Amino acid sequence: MELTRDLLLILHFIGLASLLGGFLVQMKPAVKVINPAMFHGVLTQLVTGLALVGLAEARDVDVDHTKVGIKLAITLAIAIVVFVCRKRESVTIPVWGVIGALTVINIAVAVLWR
Ligand code: HEM
Repeated sequence: MELTRDLLLILHFIGLASLLGGFLVQMKPAVKVINPAMFHGVLTQLVTGLALVGLAEARDVDVDHTKVGIKLAITLAIAIVVFVCRKRESVTIPVWGVIGALTVINIAVAVLWR
């Protein structure tokens, strides 16, 4: 169980790296897109995040449902933007920016909310 949780958390960090990395590599290019790293990254965050919560519940570990609920809502918002815009040839800077901002907000919630 402990190993499963550790492996899921590693995947959670890889998903985070993929989502944020897909955003950050587009700082310079004028044309912004929803790239595969962002698409797969947000999916990974949803799947591994929910699996981490399920595993914690199964192990009777206390889960802060408010914190997790906020993270889920933010991740769903990112996922909707990514899904809706992923086939477009380009997205506006505000659309690209909101994905990065919401991702960073989720990192802050994860780390700062005690
Ligand atoms: C963009 C989306 C997300 C980002 C950037 C993110 C980021 C993080 C980070 C940095 C951690 C490690 C810090 C900590 O343990 O406090 C973490 C842990 C965790 N995340 Fe997320 N997360 C995201 C989405 C989600 C979602 C959607 C859920 C569940 C619905 C979730 C559930 C969890 C849980 C349960 C842990 C704690 C794991 C443990 O310590 O056993 N995360 N997340």
